[in-house]
Amino acid sequence: MTIDLASIEMDPPLRAQVLVEALPYIRNFRGKRIVIKLGGSAMIQESLKKNFAEDIALLTFIGVKPIIVHGGGPQIGELLKKLGIESRFVKGLRVTDEETMDVVEMVLVAKVNKDVVSMINNLGGNAVGLSGRDGRLIKAKKAQPARLADKDEDLGLVGEVERINPELIAALESHGFVPVIAPVGAGPQEKPYNINADTAAGALSAALGAEKFVLLTDVPGVLDLEKNLISSLSEDEAEEFIRNGVASGGMIPKIRCCLSALRGGVPKAHIIDGRVPHALLLELLTDQGIGTEIVRDNPPGM
Ligand SMILES: Nc1ncnc2c1ncn2[C@@H]1O[C@H](COP(=O)(O)OP(=O)(O)OP(=O)(O)O)[C@@H](O)[C@H]1O
Ligand SMILES: [Mg+2]
Repeated sequence: MTIDLASIEMDPPLRAQVLVEALPYIRNFRGKRIVIKLGGSAMIQESLKKNFAEDIALLTFIGVKPIIVHGGGPQIGELLKKLGIESRFVKGLRVTDEETMDVVEMVLVAKVNKDVVSMINNLGGNAVGLSGRDGRLIKAKKAQPARLADKDEDLGLVGEVERINPELIAALESHGFVPVIAPVGAGPQEKPYNINADTAAGALSAALGAEKFVLLTDVPGVLDLEKNLISSLSEDEAEEFIRNGVASGGMIPKIRCCLSALRGGVPKAHIIDGRVPHALLLELLTDQGIGTEIVRDNPPGM
C-alpha cells in the first residue's frame, strides 16, 4: 500500500502504517553501509540541515551504517571571491592552482566538514570528520588535462581516485562513529588534490561494498528535455542521457559516478532532491521512492 504522506498529520492509524511500512526496509538495511553524497546546494537552508542530521541520527539508531561525503562548491567560490582569487572552470571542473587548493582545503576540511559533523552531533549522532588524506583514505592521481576545441587544458591539482583504503572507515564504524568525508585526496608526494565530491562518493560506495548510493542535490532528480522527472534509468539509458546532452553541467559527474558505483557492485544508486524535508528517510524507509533511481542493466541472478 502506498501512503499519502500529506494526510499523516490528520490520521493516527496512517502514522502507525508509516512505521510498519518501514519495517522491511529497516530489516534489509540493518548493518549495511549506505554512502550519501550531500551536495553543497542542499546544505544552504538551516531547517534542511537539521532534517538531514535527524535522518542520519535515526538511520544510525536503527543499525544502518551511513558514510557521508559532502561537496562545497558554493562555499569555496564565496571565499575565493572574498580573497580576490579568480574562479575558473573547464567542463565543470575547477582549475586548481596551489593558492586555490589552499582555499579548497580550508573550506572543505576545516569549515564545511566540521559544520556537517556538528549538525549531526547536535542531534545525538556520533560523527567524525575526515578528509581523503587522513589514513590515506583516498589516494588520488592527477586528472587528465581537459580536451578543449583547440588545445589540452591542464587542470592543476584536480585529482581522480586511484585507490580507496577502507580500513579507517571500518575502524570508525566498529566504534559506532559516522564518517563524514571531505573530497580532498592524497596525491603524489602526499600533496592535497581536489576531487569532485560525486566522483569521490561513487568510488567510496563501490570500495566499501555499499548497499546503496544516494546523492542529495538541488533538483528533483534527472529531468528530461521537458523537465519531467525520470523515476528510473537503466545503465544504457543513463549513458544515452549524457551522450545526447539531456544531462549537462553538474549532472554529468553525478550520472557517471552512479554508473561507476553500479559497475563496482553497488545494487542501486539514487539521485534525489535534498530540498525536500527528510528526503533521505522518504527514499530509504518508505514505499514512496522519490527522485531518480539508476539500476543495473543485468542485475546479478537474472
Ligand atoms: N538533465 C538534468 N536533470 C537535472 N539536473 C540537470 C540536468 N542537466 C543538468 N542539470 C544540472 O545539474 C545540477 C546539479 O549538479 P550540481 O553540481 O550543481 O549540484 P551538487 O552536485 O548537488 O552540489 P555540489 O557540486 O556543490 O556538491 C542541477 O542544479 C541542474 O542545473
Ligand atoms: Mg556537483
